[in-house]
Amino acid sequence: MRVKFAPFPCPANHFAPYDATMEFVGFTLRNNLFVAPMAGVTDRPFRQLCKKMGAGLAVSEMVTSNSLLYGSAKTRRRANHDGEVAPISVQIAGSLPAMMADAARHNVERGAQIIDINMGCPAKKICNVMAGSALLRDELLVGRILEAVVNAVPGTPVTLKIRTGWDKSSRNATNVLKIAEQSGIRALAMHGRTRACGYTGQAEYETIAAVKAEARIPIIANGDIDSPEKAKFVLDATGADAVMIGRAAQGRPWLFREIEHYLNTGTPLLPPRVAEIHEILMAHLEDLYAFYGIETGVRVARKHISWYTKGLVGSAAFRHMMNQLPTIELQGRVVNDFFFALAEHNEHLTYLHTAGSLAEELAA
Ligand SMILES: Cc1cc2nc3c(=O)[nH]c(=O)nc-3n(C[C@H](O)[C@H](O)[C@H](O)COP(=O)(O)O)c2cc1C
Repeated sequence: MRVKFAPFPCPANHFAPYDATMEFVGFTLRNNLFVAPMAGVTDRPFRQLCKKMGAGLAVSEMVTSNSLLYGSAKTRRRANHDGEVAPISVQIAGSLPAMMADAARHNVERGAQIIDINMGCPAKKICNVMAGSALLRDELLVGRILEAVVNAVPGTPVTLKIRTGWDKSSRNATNVLKIAEQSGIRALAMHGRTRACGYTGQAEYETIAAVKAEARIPIIANGDIDSPEKAKFVLDATGADAVMIGRAAQGRPWLFREIEHYLNTGTPLLPPRVAEIHEILMAHLEDLYAFYGIETGVRVARKHISWYTKGLVGSAAFRHMMNQLPTIELQGRVVNDFFFALAEHNEHLTYLHTAGSLAEELAA
């Protein structure tokens, strides 16, 4: 593992170019900034966009290990990696070792270059079938699943994503790390919360640091990273090899280039230009329509448009209206109108909390 970020702040020249590449499970990545797997979010268009905007790796939405569902439109879409920038990391979810092994083989045959195993998802629908983070309660089963998957895809690196444990009284991430290492898992991503914590409270970076201190494999720190400064803080506080970002990247795929720039130079980038984000969003919408088809594409696009515009001056009324529109044409037209109006007032993206009187002016 090689991560060569400049010490912060860089004493000689804040803007000197640094080699931030990372050797990760046999691949050379652009950097150590990963997009977290998010069901309903990290589809192929979003992964591609995040990679284009600076992410070193993007993990797919979880794909079921239930072979009865392989033919469903959703599962087929999730296994579609056409044109995706390598390495392609596909997350699988399930609780039966043999099924998970089959799922790993199935996805490798369809282009996965890394298999990631989900033992972190807190969703009831997943935990009720003893998958996702529920597996953390059964360490024997964890070992059987990991070994089955690793053995099923020799030559393909297998990684694991976990929470710190089932609940605060049963944190067992260090045990799971040991099991993972013995099973041949090549890297471990940790969301610094127990399953019981859901998304509440502070992420436990100290637990991630404790696991990292014991680890022989790369550790990826995850949870609440929403700015370049926070990414730097978490890398320093945990000693992790990489950071993984989920919710903060929704509607803000350029966060990766902002973090990359900050880690490399110690200085923040200016907020992106309105015209650039307008162009990126329109291209993202085109990708969504092409990927999902028109009807589903319009629906999926709504949530991305909402995320892109959240917090921008004048966006509340815009989002309310945009959510009612049924066609590509209308969706495109109002997005254009919104961004052209925004660009008249600001060259760079301006969020409400920094806009001051301009917010009032536009709201009037
Ligand atoms: C909408 C949504 C969907 C998610 N889906 C998955 C998933 O499919 N697999 C998984 O391991 N984690 C999933 N997660 C958890 C994220 O990968 C991540 O661990 C969590 O959001 C914490 O990181 P963040 O604070 O950067 O968002 C999901 C999270 C969200 C918000």
